[in-house]
Amino acid sequence: MGKESIINYSDPANVLFAAATGETYGLDEPRWRSDRGALLSLRHTGRWAPKDLPRRPATLWRYREALPLRHDENIVSLGEGFTPLLRLQRKNRSVWIKQEQLFPTGSYKDRGATVLISKVKELGIRQVVQDSSGNAGCAVAAYCARAGIACDIYVPEKTSPAKLTQIRSHGARLHLVPGDREQTATAALEAAQTSYYASHCWNPFFLHGTKTFAYEVWEQLGGRAPDTLVLPVGNGTLLLGASIGFSELLDWGYVQRLPRLVGVQAVHCAPLAQAFAGGGQPVLVGKKETLAEGIAIAAPVRGGEILAAVRASGGWFITVTEEEISSTWRSLAAQGFYVEPTAAAGIAGLDRYLAGATPQECIVAAFTGHGLKSPGDH
Ligand SMILES: Cc1ncc(COP(=O)(O)O)c(C=O)c1O
Repeated sequence: MGKESIINYSDPANVLFAAATGETYGLDEPRWRSDRGALLSLRHTGRWAPKDLPRRPATLWRYREALPLRHDENIVSLGEGFTPLLRLQRKNRSVWIKQEQLFPTGSYKDRGATVLISKVKELGIRQVVQDSSGNAGCAVAAYCARAGIACDIYVPEKTSPAKLTQIRSHGARLHLVPGDREQTATAALEAAQTSYYASHCWNPFFLHGTKTFAYEVWEQLGGRAPDTLVLPVGNGTLLLGASIGFSELLDWGYVQRLPRLVGVQAVHCAPLAQAFAGGGQPVLVGKKETLAEGIAIAAPVRGGEILAAVRASGGWFITVTEEEISSTWRSLAAQGFYVEPTAAAGIAGLDRYLAGATPQECIVAAFTGHGLKSPGDH
């Protein structure tokens, strides 16, 4: 691997762009939204070649050509990625489960954090602010510690204590915000007026880290896409990343079609499932507390994009009750898998999906977070 990216940064094909307003910016601009406040996406011409992969280390940086960082020396890594894809029996059939709880900080958020914080380092930024339901905060705090970047993390005050300890241990300044996840986001946005906002929801570099989920699944399935992906969805950073990754594989001719994307939400907080059923855009819904704290997002920033990606893939949403989350969590623990309740919510959705799945369908789901993040008898 050379010291420079293969992406040509002066080529206008490599840009940050706001689909809503048509504004475009270079990949080296330190921004997380457009001047007019619109969400940014990232387009690039990088592409890895399958023949090069086998001799590369088993981390997500094996896909370096498609990770939009200019210089290798700015990579901030904890050796993340290439999580095992395990065969598991659910509902009397075999499915694939990606072991995303085995990341350095215990969740797949490390995929996004390694790319985003590497970019932050490359931009010369010395301080960031971020808000999270917990796991993205843990990941950003860890990668900032690795890079020597100061960070302020905002979380709802009721976040699982183990996640709070994890964030503090990495030396981040932790801000506990009274109220729900939306009040936390408001507090972080306020702080982001004077600091760089390393938001996993707003910042497109994060999604170009989570997209490696798709690349790895493709490689681990022997160079093909699954028929269906079933994933828990809050702000959609894993689902959107998977959608970007498989879309790139389609553009490059490595797959012939996209997998169906099925999003799982908790009945107690299901703005996307409701909007999908109603055929519209997400609206702020009333929410009740849920065991699945990672997906308790009443107002997903990229809600419109998530709905569009799910619709374009021919997928849909499934909602799961607190009882289903709890019984699924217990059934997984009884099989030796200690995952956090949000991850169990995704598997509860998988179980529901399997009731109507076709016999030959290749289905991939994920254990998105480690049980030690919220220990207890759920
Ligand atoms: C364990 C776990 N699973 C799933 C999710 C959902 O992720 P997203 O908000 O990116 O959809 C989260 C989010 O924090 C999480 O912590």
